[in-house]
Amino acid sequence: MNSLTIGSVTIPSRCFLAPLAGISDLSFRMLNRRFGCRFAFVEMSSAKSVLVQTKMTKKLLKADPADRPLGIQLVGKDGDDLRRALEVLEPYGFDIIDFNAACPVRKVVRRNEGASLLNDPQKLTELIKVLVKYSAAPVTLKIRSGWDAHSINAPEIARRAEDAGVQAVTIHGRTRAQLYKGRVRYESIREVKEAVTIPVIGSGDVFSPWLAKKMLDETGCDGVAIARGSFGNPWIFEQTEEYLARGTEPRRPGLEEIMETMLRHLAMSIELQGERNGVVLFRKFFSWYTKGFRHIKPLRARAFTSKTEEEMIGVINELPGLKGARDGPYDPQYPWAGQDEE
Ligand SMILES: Cc1cc2nc3c(=O)[nH]c(=O)nc-3n(C[C@H](O)[C@H](O)[C@H](O)COP(=O)(O)O)c2cc1C
Repeated sequence: MNSLTIGSVTIPSRCFLAPLAGISDLSFRMLNRRFGCRFAFVEMSSAKSVLVQTKMTKKLLKADPADRPLGIQLVGKDGDDLRRALEVLEPYGFDIIDFNAACPVRKVVRRNEGASLLNDPQKLTELIKVLVKYSAAPVTLKIRSGWDAHSINAPEIARRAEDAGVQAVTIHGRTRAQLYKGRVRYESIREVKEAVTIPVIGSGDVFSPWLAKKMLDETGCDGVAIARGSFGNPWIFEQTEEYLARGTEPRRPGLEEIMETMLRHLAMSIELQGERNGVVLFRKFFSWYTKGFRHIKPLRARAFTSKTEEEMIGVINELPGLKGARDGPYDPQYPWAGQDEE
């Protein structure tokens, strides 16, 4: 079955865009939706910042009717803050409310939020109960395997969350100690799947359609969350969809299509963020879109100092001049991996 039902929401796909702070603004989400992404989250929002409605949060919450179904992810540690944040968010009509018990960032865990809640299952359960009680939309939970290799407790946390009324769990199969490196523990994802009856979404190194299928097959999870695999590679959504449905070998986008997409992405980023911020935010995407390109270093250096739309477009338009930029083997595990970057 090529869909995922979370409470009252049915997503016509088994893969969705993972929550990505600092990345998944409206322009990034809309770009991925053009390429088959069927479900996304706005950037992680702290309950406190939702309550004070900073300029930044207002921008973060900016949505578009075409950007649906759409979830929001909250991070926090105070039940009353979460309850009041839900009130503020009510008019936005988010389809899913996700709670973050996975964020490894020091600033967040020091406040006893994010992944640090994995160390306090009781507290985490209390917070989830508040969300479930006051949210009109289904509540879901994002976790990691555990805090570190000595405290793997994802199955226990997931079971408690299900009992507390959560309608799906996303598990990043790494511990907080691993941050974003090292092996993804498929066994943790599998154990969570075995521990609960609600849908389980796996996360970690889904860099290609093959890896999406491998995670689904080897863990039995119901869906996968695509995170870094979407950076500079929105094609991953339609490719994965095709591969899961028909086993079709993914079509590799040509240079022209990559350039067209970069230009569109840049324009969307500028429209949302203004020229200055839009160009600065696009710089890292320039690197990701050109991952594995040969002789790319000088152009990347120029992209990283570009300040105007015109400058950035100029750099993108020079890509065809790179000799043999896209020659080399096509790595089925990661489309542009294994090629020398000079
Ligand atoms: C730049 C960046 C920002 C992220 N922001 C969030 C976030 O706000 N909330 C969250 O639950 N996970 C966040 N994640 C974690 C991803 O959703 C995902 O679980 C993790 O990157 C593992 O997937 P991957 O190995 O395919 O990248 C972030 C990851 C990255 C790289």
